[in-house]
Amino acid sequence: MAGHSTRFSGPGAALALFAASLLGACTPSPESGHGFTLPEGDVAAGERAFTRLGCQACHTVAGRPELRENVASEMSIRLGGPTRRVSTYGELVTSIINPSHRISEAAGDAGTTEGGQSRMRNYNELMTVSELADLVAFLQAQYELRPYEPTPYPPYYPRP
Ligand code: HEC
Repeated sequence: MAGHSTRFSGPGAALALFAASLLGACTPSPESGHGFTLPEGDVAAGERAFTRLGCQACHTVAGRPELRENVASEMSIRLGGPTRRVSTYGELVTSIINPSHRISEAAGDAGTTEGGQSRMRNYNELMTVSELADLVAFLQAQYELRPYEPTPYPPYYPRP
């Protein structure tokens, strides 16, 4: 057995430790959202949940002005429309059930309290899990992915 312990000293041990640290980096921490999956949502049901919960009091939806008809507007933060990257459902769920976790820039200073908390209403006692899944499906369907346009550079002529 003594032979084994000598084999794990020196550079080999350092390498083994390094490999273990890499493996460790791949193991998600218990606080991570890794492995979280919602059941598939329904876009039409998501729209019904959106209006039932009154999200349109603070949000406009790109291309859907009728959702704001006869609504007492509190704010006008746009959801949907052209974007470089559609939010993952993990991000959307977090924006809905834990809005202060990451504050969207879309609202500017008006979107937060002086303490930096989101002014978004808390729905966690009012919304079913199915409504949450449907809302995410509805919101994702409102975004339109725009590819990156290459920056136009003038032709480059090296000096003679
Ligand atoms: C009282 C106003 C208010 C209501 C009602 C409200 N929100 Fe918000 N919402 C905000 C504000 C302010 C922000 C921006 C600050 C932040 O990120 O939380 C926001 C941000 C968001 C974002 C992130 C947007 C982005 O560009 O990243 C999503 C998604 C969202 N809201 C969905 C909803 C949904 C769905 C509902 C209804 C269930 C809802 N909101 C109801 C005020 C509101």
